[in-house]
Amino acid sequence: MLNLGILISGQGSNMEAILKSIKSKKIHINPAIVISNKSDVRGIKIAQKLGIKTEIIQSKNFKGSRSDYDKKIISTLEKYGVTPKNGLVCLAGFMRIISPEFVKKYKNRIINIHPALLPAFPGLDAQKQAIKYGAKYSGCTVHFVDSGVDTGAIILQSIVKIRKGETEKTLSKLILKKEHETYSKAIKLFTENKIKISGRKTIII
Ligand code: GAR
Repeated sequence: MLNLGILISGQGSNMEAILKSIKSKKIHINPAIVISNKSDVRGIKIAQKLGIKTEIIQSKNFKGSRSDYDKKIISTLEKYGVTPKNGLVCLAGFMRIISPEFVKKYKNRIINIHPALLPAFPGLDAQKQAIKYGAKYSGCTVHFVDSGVDTGAIILQSIVKIRKGETEKTLSKLILKKEHETYSKAIKLFTENKIKISGRKTIII
């Protein structure tokens, strides 16, 4: 069975949805480790309650380069069996850009969820960007991580209609609900070896 490492920075609701899908046997993967770059976040408490091992690797005041920080993440992932051969790394609200070395080492084994329909509204505050732009629809995207920001091959997307009077807060809530379903579906496809990568596209078998 594959070993899963989940990287978080905060509330961890996507992580929670993934761990619950694993517990209820909708997804067959071993939830090996949850790593947070911040201490005292809700996500860590939830993971511990669900009986999952956790590690904090503080990024604030970290003395060293991005790649030095990521070396710590990689060695922690490897310690728990999340290797480039036998692992899957899910970024779930992990608010850091990861280094090219990390991406290269875990090529096509790191996936991320973004709260917009990429390539629209990459980067921070995607929901706010969508509202400000006047988009009528937004949603979420699960994609492989490459060396760009939110540019990797798209695995799945789900759409949300932006309603009259929508605010960043109400839209985030709507999208988050879709994220929880979509992320688990994408991980399931990965574990079943149903995602083929062809250039910058994925083909779902
Ligand atoms: C989610 O909306 C996720 O898509 C977003 O942060 C939130 C984390 O929520 N990620 C990004 O914006 C990454 N660019 P969660 O901690 O409850 O899963």
